[in-house]
Amino acid sequence: MAIANRQFLMSKIIVLMGAPGAGKGTQARLLQHRLGLPQVSTGDMFRALAESQTPLAEEVRAIQQAGKLIPDELVIRVVEDRTAKDDCLRGYILDGFPRTAAQAEMLEELASRQRKKLSAILIDVPLELLEKRMTGRRSCPICGEIYNMYFRPPKNDDKCDRHPEAELTQRADDRQEKVRVRLETYERETAPLLDYYQRTGRLHRVDGTRSPEDIYCEIEQILNNEVVRTSPAD
Ligand code: AP5
Ligand code: MG
Repeated sequence: MAIANRQFLMSKIIVLMGAPGAGKGTQARLLQHRLGLPQVSTGDMFRALAESQTPLAEEVRAIQQAGKLIPDELVIRVVEDRTAKDDCLRGYILDGFPRTAAQAEMLEELASRQRKKLSAILIDVPLELLEKRMTGRRSCPICGEIYNMYFRPPKNDDKCDRHPEAELTQRADDRQEKVRVRLETYERETAPLLDYYQRTGRLHRVDGTRSPEDIYCEIEQILNNEVVRTSPAD
């Protein structure tokens, strides 16, 4: 199945929501490849920034590795800059943003300035699965492909299927003790945003315990239904 009206996506911000390890990055990558919309992942952007040797990078690295949230002001600046780029004109996929009430407020302003409509999609996964999703996660340092030693192992040991020369890496915040902090932070700061999107009629829930492909199909279905609901006058 394909998206019925590509024109519709030009005005779209797809917000992928869900706890750490729910599968936001996995779905964002599928949406990016298949719909041609860019994945805007604040986690990935800050992990890249944290690689450099500056005082700011040092600060970001410490916060991320502790499983805490980066200050709103900085996150908001990074999202404003990234979504102002040309590749976002056709719409984009937010992965890991917004995470606080202040970020959600900023996103409303941004969406109205960019004349884009927002759809929030919650990938719903029970707590007991999330720990394994995170502690088992490994990624390819070359292409960013996401694996899981329990649920989606690579074909050969610790090597990427497409880049056998590359050893898969584990995120520093995917260690057991950091995973707990991240889950608590999510419950306290981010989960309350779901009520807000629900009340404003923009939240869709998908069962995140199924295969990535099944979840993707449902997300595509949701986006297609919105095409039908959106009249040309909207
Ligand atoms: P971020 O990188 O956004 O991490 P997160 O929200 O904790 O989410 P994850 O990336 O851990 O999980 P995911 O939902 O993407 O799952 P994935 O697809 O990889 O943020 C990291 C840090 O950056 C934050 O803690 C904070 O410090 C900072 N930060 C980022 N954004 C911020 C913001 N807005 N404000 C402030 N600070 C911010 O899948 C997980 C695993 O499960 C993988 O192994 C995958 O293979 C597997 N999997 C996925 N789908 C399935 C499936 N359907 N079935 C079986 N296995 C699956
Ligand atoms: Mg992610």
